Amino acid sequence: MTAPVAISLSVNGERVEARILPRLNLADFLREHLKLTGTHLGCEHGVCGACTVRVGGEIVRSCLMLAVQASGTAVETIEGLSDSGEIADLQAAFRDRNALQCGFCTPGMLMAAQDLLREKHMPSRDEIREHLSGNYCRCTGYQAIVDAVEMTARSRVESDA
Ligand code: FES
Ligand code: FES
Repeated sequence: MTAPVAISLSVNGERVEARILPRLNLADFLREHLKLTGTHLGCEHGVCGACTVRVGGEIVRSCLMLAVQASGTAVETIEGLSDSGEIADLQAAFRDRNALQCGFCTPGMLMAAQDLLREKHMPSRDEIREHLSGNYCRCTGYQAIVDAVEMTARSRVESDA
């Protein structure tokens, strides 16, 4: 049997030390060890995007990354982005535009949408669709999600003007 290994990382700004089995993926580590259950697990093989988190500022699929690979990095989850207020306007737009129904895809969708808005302040609807194309939603038909991201982009640009 493989022995546990020690990892040390930052999760939502807090230092975390743990001993885990090398085969544990980052999504299971966040959900089961740290009880950060906002990161959802759908397909568990890199297709649906429900497990999207930030590692070192870049979004990754946490079902495809081993927790040991995150050692020494800064991980941010939907709880971190939500608690800091970074995506408060985006979350409000999702509510206002009915961009969520069951909510299963929503954490990953918000992580991916915020990633786009950090990169490009006023993306086109096609660019929003392209950037979110790796995040599956079984409820909304996507139109309302694109509306919510576009509305957030516009209001951020206007408030910067
Ligand atoms: S659970 Fe990771 S991409 Fe679907
Ligand atoms: S709101 Fe249900 S999967 Fe997207």
